[in-house]
Amino acid sequence: MKKILVTGALGQIGSELVPALRQRYGDAQVIASDIRMPPADAGREEPAFEFIDCTRQSPLRSVVHKHEIDTIFHLAALLSAVAEEKPHVAWDVNMGGLYRVLEVARESGCAVFFPSSIGAFGPTTPKRGTPQDTLQRPTTMYGVTKAAGELLCDYYFQRFGIDTRGVRFPGLISYQAPPGGGTTDYAVEIFYAALRHGRYTCFLGPDTRLDMMYMPDALRAVVGLMEADPGRLVHRNSFNVTAMSVTPEEIAAEIRRHLPGFAIDYDVDPVRQAIADSWPDAIDDRAAAEEWGWAATFDLAEMTADMLAKLGPRLGADR
Ligand code: NAD
Ligand code: SER
Repeated sequence: MKKILVTGALGQIGSELVPALRQRYGDAQVIASDIRMPPADAGREEPAFEFIDCTRQSPLRSVVHKHEIDTIFHLAALLSAVAEEKPHVAWDVNMGGLYRVLEVARESGCAVFFPSSIGAFGPTTPKRGTPQDTLQRPTTMYGVTKAAGELLCDYYFQRFGIDTRGVRFPGLISYQAPPGGGTTDYAVEIFYAALRHGRYTCFLGPDTRLDMMYMPDALRAVVGLMEADPGRLVHRNSFNVTAMSVTPEEIAAEIRRHLPGFAIDYDVDPVRQAIADSWPDAIDDRAAAEEWGWAATFDLAEMTADMLAKLGPRLGADR
């Protein structure tokens, strides 16, 4: 039976991955952790939570021993835009945190899931049909930590036999928790703004094309890879996965099919635009399909319909 620790569990992915893992493996099997405390919310009791700063090895080790953890889903990180504001902190959290998680995993024999990103690519990477194995010269601190993280996870597998696995996520779209300061955050904000205000000012230009994925597919990717037959895995720590390749104009047009009055305008943020321009337009995820059966289920139309249907009542309830 798996005993799981999730770091960065209060973020955009963790707030949905923890319930999904608890549903699959049982409440008592999944310990959530973060450097923040869970919100004091009378309706939602957090059954198993540990305060952990992932850059500190000793508390991480204590929690792994205390709960007899055998698998760590390491989500704690600074995302691309925040990392560009605070590159030194991003290095400490993204690299220091991963190194300490891998060290504790080495001591205790834990498996580790580490999410890399399309940010691990750079401006010299082929932009269309970006291959699984290709040139990676990222120009952001986030990308540097993701490319190095992929290599470090490979090293711990090859050198110490630690069962490390990971995917390169595209921008993730979801409605449970807000995104944490990434370049793709616009693709979440646009839905909130459409439902609340009927209009959105986008910080990326209208034709900025990036890979995206709806959160239910992202959760399926995490579980699918961690449950995959290790004998079939050739790549392990950096599987390209995607569901759609879209621009702000295309998302806006799809929203307009449901909310005809929706309007979008643009006030481009040069920092985030430069980050987006350095990333691929559309990555090739055939290695994930071949090695562990990955396939996305939500395209832009299905994701937009579901987002609006689920988010609408939540925003209505907030008013
Ligand atoms: P997020 O920013 O929403 O959440 C990160 C969490 O980490 C936060 O709850 C934060 O409090 C916590 N954290 C920060 N510093 C910490 C520390 N020192 N110790 C412990 N916890 C700390 O991020 P997310 O979107 O949930 O992303 C999770 C992982 O997935 C990250 O590695 C990210 O790079 C990767 N990823 C995310 C996306 C996306 O679109 N969301 C895309 C590609 C990759
Ligand atoms: N959504 C993430 C970001 O923009 C991609 O890794 O930082």
